[in-house]
Amino acid sequence: MAVLPILPANDPILRQRSKRVRNIDSSIERLIDDMFDTMHETGGVGLAAPQVGVLLRVIIIELPGDDPIALINPEIIKRSGEQEVREGCLCLPGYRGKVKRPLKVTAKGKDRNGKDTRIKAAGLLAEALDHEIDHLNGILYIDHLESMEKLERIEGEEGLI
Ligand code: NI
Repeated sequence: MAVLPILPANDPILRQRSKRVRNIDSSIERLIDDMFDTMHETGGVGLAAPQVGVLLRVIIIELPGDDPIALINPEIIKRSGEQEVREGCLCLPGYRGKVKRPLKVTAKGKDRNGKDTRIKAAGLLAEALDHEIDHLNGILYIDHLESMEKLERIEGEEGLI
């Protein structure tokens, strides 16, 4: 278990496409544990593996009061509706910006035991799934902003993803 350094938004690694996980072995389990340690340390509620420099399709999300989610090779198979959210990212602490996300998504992937999992999500969970899966494709939320001038300064890292 270890807290890993989170890459800053201008790191080129964050712009690469992550690879699918072929075997869910002990190295993947360790990665997931370290990602949870890292996210808990920062007060964030979601994290994707490339944010800690690992270009593999692994994401975690833990919303306050909800069970933790780890999803391997996640894909969004359905999107509906739209919500405007003030989103922030652990790679760009101190800022939030208004972006549009789907109101509801259905995602599928495998859990840490290799079991096929399907998640129907709305609101913040839908936003977080869309944000984290964007990370796996080299996309940051600032790419969805009309302009960087729309970024707002915030205090702390609570609730970033
Ligand atoms: Ni992020």
